[in-house]
Amino acid sequence: MTKLKWGMIGGGEGSQIGPAHRLGAQADGQFEFAAGALDHRPDVGRDYAQRLGIAADRAYGSWQDMLEGERGREDRVDLVTVATPNATHFEITKAFLEAGFNVLCEKPMTMSVEEGEEIVRVAEASGKVCAVNYCYSAYPMIRQARAMVRAGEIGKVRLVVTSFSHGHHGDATDADNPRVRWRYDPQMAGVSGQFADCGIHALHMASFICDDEVARLSADFASTIPSRVLEDDAMVNFRMTGGTVGRLWTSSVAIGRQHGFDIQVFGETGGLKWFSEHPNQLEYTPVGGRKQIIEKGEGGLHEDAMRLSRVSIAHPEGFPLAVANIYCDLADAIRGEARDSLPNAADGVRSMAAVHGAVSSAQQDGAWVDARPPMFR
Ligand code: NAI
Repeated sequence: MTKLKWGMIGGGEGSQIGPAHRLGAQADGQFEFAAGALDHRPDVGRDYAQRLGIAADRAYGSWQDMLEGERGREDRVDLVTVATPNATHFEITKAFLEAGFNVLCEKPMTMSVEEGEEIVRVAEASGKVCAVNYCYSAYPMIRQARAMVRAGEIGKVRLVVTSFSHGHHGDATDADNPRVRWRYDPQMAGVSGQFADCGIHALHMASFICDDEVARLSADFASTIPSRVLEDDAMVNFRMTGGTVGRLWTSSVAIGRQHGFDIQVFGETGGLKWFSEHPNQLEYTPVGGRKQIIEKGEGGLHEDAMRLSRVSIAHPEGFPLAVANIYCDLADAIRGEARDSLPNAADGVRSMAAVHGAVSSAQQDGAWVDARPPMFR
């Protein structure tokens, strides 16, 4: 099978998410790193791309140059990853979809619900794949949890409880550090801080495992460090279309918590529990029975979990390989075998509607609001 050609925008040297995309895209030999506009500084981006092995004529100084350069080539890239800061996602993703490229966009897909709906429409009209990097949903044990829920192994889901709470912005003496400060500044971050950054991963995960949509929510936002305009802590209650009750806590001032992403799903006949810091284990407790640990790579897993378990049982697989699982599903989708596990533009706009809904709810003392984008109501 010939390799697909892949390009990235953003994700330059020293960036947080760039290495996970490079490792993930190339992990299974499906994609060849062929083009990039990796940095907001043209020379730095061109130099780094060439050091990573990209040919000089495809090491671009800007995403606009990459769009012009690639659209005219017969061997143009099959997939473009957008790994730039949030405010640029909409413009870049839209431009590449309109030019007929498949796109993987980092979260949050857009800043507003209107932009998100626009991306859904443009993606549909283009017939191209538009995925959003909710990569935690690609851990094998999350695929196992989803498959167990779908197979009725814990019965109808009553309750989902999730948190994505870390303490890395909890030091008030560091609050003015520019790398921290922008996240709580509406001019830079948009309408929401911590909920838009981490909370949406947890909300997407709840929908993904429960195979249901968040319909309504009520939010309490707090800026626990007074100089911050946007929230650094949020509690969000929600209801899914099928009646499932949801509780979500997200915080960046939870000192002592490191990555801090976990989820528990409670059904009528059993419960599931997963922690991102121990991603290879899924706890399962049947009603009236003992707790069992289901391990990545063991026999008898559901097909999707088995397919995405690479190294043998008890050997750790981590975050870059979860990102690699997104690229596996993308390669299948680009080759014509769509997988419903791949987070798409509809998931991206649902997150934005939830963010804007939560902001509006928090401003109204936790009033319950519709969490869905208008196009899906
Ligand atoms: P970062 O600030 O560490 O790196 C951003 C990179 O983009 C830099 O190399 C910068 O030079 C480059 N860049 C900025 N503007 C550009 C432009 N116009 N053209 C080309 N390159 C440009 O940011 P980080 O933390 O890597 O985040 C990037 C995106 O990834 C954000 O949207 C963030 O929300 C998302 N992210 C997602 C994660 C996930 O779990 N899915 C985890 C971490 C970040």
